[in-house]
Amino acid sequence: MTIDEILHKDQLNKEEIKLLLSAEGEDLKKLFDRALQVKLERLDNYVHLRGLIEYSNICSKYCLYCGVRCKNLKVERYQLSDEEVLECAKLAHELGYGSVALQSGERSDKAFVDKITHLVKEIKKIDNGSLGITLSLGEQTEDTYRRWFEAGAHRYLLRIEASNEELYYKIHPHDARHDFQQRLACIDSLLKVGYQTGTGVMVGLPFQTLDDLADDLLFFKEKDVAMVGMGPFIPHPDTPLWQYREQIPTAKKRMELTLKMIAILRLMMPEINMVAATANQTVDPQGREKAILAGANVIMPNLTPNEFRENYLIYPDKACVKDKPDECHSCLDIRLAAIGHKVLYNAWGDSVAFTKGNPNYSKH
Ligand code: 5AD
Ligand code: FES
Repeated sequence: MTIDEILHKDQLNKEEIKLLLSAEGEDLKKLFDRALQVKLERLDNYVHLRGLIEYSNICSKYCLYCGVRCKNLKVERYQLSDEEVLECAKLAHELGYGSVALQSGERSDKAFVDKITHLVKEIKKIDNGSLGITLSLGEQTEDTYRRWFEAGAHRYLLRIEASNEELYYKIHPHDARHDFQQRLACIDSLLKVGYQTGTGVMVGLPFQTLDDLADDLLFFKEKDVAMVGMGPFIPHPDTPLWQYREQIPTAKKRMELTLKMIAILRLMMPEINMVAATANQTVDPQGREKAILAGANVIMPNLTPNEFRENYLIYPDKACVKDKPDECHSCLDIRLAAIGHKVLYNAWGDSVAFTKGNPNYSKH
């Protein structure tokens, strides 16, 4: 089968995915062009924004790749006050972002669960519930997920990080706190509770193969998730995986592989929401735009107050750490216009894949 035939198929099998993952030169250009064409046909040239609020870097986990793992004692820990969170949310609303994403290190104690429930309800009070809320707060019980959903959150991101159990345990400690089956069960709970559920992986991890990446894409399809986030792995010097930094593909290759993953998934799941992760921009100043042109349709501008941002360095040299929220804002419009896209302001920007399958879902 020729590359053109594969690029026009409805369903891709693992061999075809691997072939596309290995595409180079003219074939690679064809892949990106086709993914952009599919996105524009199905979703138009809109980009949705989620104002990102990095609520706290206090975390009970110690994933082997993550700069804010609890065992990294160099990090100064913080938690935003309720007022700070609500100020960020109001700013998102004023800037017309339509949605916020509340992200945090993982905690599951009652005080934390209650606090998030409270914050979700308070954010919902802004202009009569006009802001959509995405949560990214790690593994929780189904009951907690339900409480937060009932409080008003409607999207949840929990990356599987690696859908191959063996690889998962090479990038996480093999213990009760980092249990692969538990993580899978959490994704199932989120889907069951009714969230627009997002997952994803890092690309270019040590020990990761093309087979793994192809299986990751098939995993997203099988779970029928509404949203996916994928970004290049960036080694952090204060983490155990730093020791493998010479054994992974170059930053350029990791970026290219991420773009291929985005493009192939756009062919496989034409109407899901896919984020152009900040990690892309860290590896390549044009990384976010490249991800949008490869098929992504969501950007998460950082709204965290600047004084806290440098304590949320999951990976080093994170982009925009020094930018002010409103600078990011004008910068985005210009950057997107330059590549023929535009921000859809004042809308939740729900996953079309999800709303189509749930006709009673109250759209905004
Ligand atoms: N490089 C790239 N992405 C990372 N993440 C965590 N550590 C790194 C890293 N070193 C991603 C994980 C996590 C998300 C919050 O950040 O995929 O889910
Ligand atoms: Fe697991 Fe940060 S400790 S992602």
